[in-house]
Amino acid sequence: TNEKLEYIKSKIGTFPDFPKKGIVFRDIFTALRDPTACRYLKEVLVQEVKQRYPNAEIIVGLESRGFLFNLLIATELGIGCAPVRKKGKLPGDLISVEYVLEYGKDIFEMQANAIKPGQKVIIVDDLLATGGSLKAAIELVRKAGGDVIGGIVVMELKDLRGRDKIDCDVHTLIKY
Ligand code: PRP
Ligand code: HPA
Repeated sequence: TNEKLEYIKSKIGTFPDFPKKGIVFRDIFTALRDPTACRYLKEVLVQEVKQRYPNAEIIVGLESRGFLFNLLIATELGIGCAPVRKKGKLPGDLISVEYVLEYGKDIFEMQANAIKPGQKVIIVDDLLATGGSLKAAIELVRKAGGDVIGGIVVMELKDLRGRDKIDCDVHTLIKY
């Protein structure tokens, strides 16, 4: 596993001053051009989720890069998946939550019947930065009646201390 993670990390792109001056952007898409990195990422994610959250009943992915991983993990675990999306993209009855970004705020939405009451939910995303997105997604799933048993992200920017905002178990594959 460690060798696979080292390999994936070596393929992740680093872009200083994107999208704003002073931000060092870690780009998962750079790694996904590499077939071996794709395979390793899938293998490690599936292994970690199976090991840590064997009783998960549905996986929720955050727009947009969380969607790369939720279907992948869901099919391997034999469970379903559901999206958390930015405002205005989902049809039907919705629940929503406002969240704070580094600059300003936004709204996340989820279909009201996406989660069954008491269902055990895990949340997946590519990256944990300030933690605002993951925190909002947890709130949303709870509003929907779900029981958040944990989260998994590919990358974590430790200095931003996003983890401090999260009141459930979060597993990270690669730390910066
Ligand atoms: C990025 C990233 C996470 C979030 C992390 O998504 O994919 O979802 O920011 O930041 P936070 O921990 O500070 O909340 P972004 O909002 O850029 O959306 P995108 O995936 O649609 O590009
Ligand atoms: N990479 C990808 N998404 C992000 C980042 C980053 O470094 N920071 C905040 N969202």
